[in-house]
Amino acid sequence: MIKNNQTLFNQFLLLGLPIPAEHQQLFFALFLSMYLTTILGNLIIIILIRLDSHLHTPMYLFLSNLSFSDLCFSSVTMPKLLQNMQSQDTSITYAGCLTQMYFFVLFGGLEIFLLVVMAYDRYVAICLPLHYTSIMSLKLCVCLVLLSWVISILNSMLHTLLLARLSFCEDNMIRHFFCDMSALLKLACSDIYINELMIFILGGPLMVIPFLLIVMSYVQIIFSILKASSTRAIYKVFSTCGSHLTVVSLFYGTIIGLYLCPSANNFTAKEASIAIMYTVVTPMLNPFIYSLRNRDIKEALINVLIKKIPL
Ligand SMILES: *[C@@H]1O[C@H](CO)[C@@H](O)[C@H](O)[C@H]1NC(C)=O
Repeated sequence: MIKNNQTLFNQFLLLGLPIPAEHQQLFFALFLSMYLTTILGNLIIIILIRLDSHLHTPMYLFLSNLSFSDLCFSSVTMPKLLQNMQSQDTSITYAGCLTQMYFFVLFGGLEIFLLVVMAYDRYVAICLPLHYTSIMSLKLCVCLVLLSWVISILNSMLHTLLLARLSFCEDNMIRHFFCDMSALLKLACSDIYINELMIFILGGPLMVIPFLLIVMSYVQIIFSILKASSTRAIYKVFSTCGSHLTVVSLFYGTIIGLYLCPSANNFTAKEASIAIMYTVVTPMLNPFIYSLRNRDIKEALINVLIKKIPL
């Protein structure tokens, strides 16, 4: 009997997406192409920024970090989802599940902090242009990126360790398509008070403070645009900040959508589509939002393609 229970603890089953069987192949093709686009788009951004020395400025180094984070973030969930859509066996080991959760929380957090750092960079560039090079030194850039990593790692490690001390019972069906923290907590037999408390204590500030910092930066930017007299300056500011604002709204829009969703016990089509939004769609769109509206990136791409800068 004990042995039987033990095997149950060792693996979970992932419910997957609520898609009718006849549409599985269509959605598989859709998600596979979205995932490949994410990988390709973000890799191109990283390589372009690395190759072109005009793009070795704080803004693009942060963008390259964001692309790396996007790439990892969608690689945490998509390969497993795609594999599960093709096979009957949707099991995931206990260790695999905690690993997936750890990296999901890590890269999700990193994404948020990088968006804050990018907003701060734009704030300094537009509101304090004369001091930009002295404030945004390479040292500060490296510090900001390192700090983002450290906070994300500590936050994710804490949640994973707290989850690892829980015990799980007969029901091992995770009602999600990846090992989502809240879906896992619903399966726990032991007391999850501490876990929920930490999510509340850390999750609030780690979500809300970055959001307020981003809003503050852009409010300052908008005020300084209103003071600027030439329409050309206004246009220039909007063209660089517009893409940042699009990414921020996409990311926070889906998070807010998630929290406005009532947390029912079942995994509905609405919850699934929101989860798909932040695991696949946002990381896929980020490189396009930046490169389609950005002349520097377009020029770098043309330079690489035409002048064939050696790799
Ligand atoms: C991330 O940003 C740091 C600091 O600006 C930079 O040194 C590093 O090359 C970037 N990493 C990537 C992968 O772009």
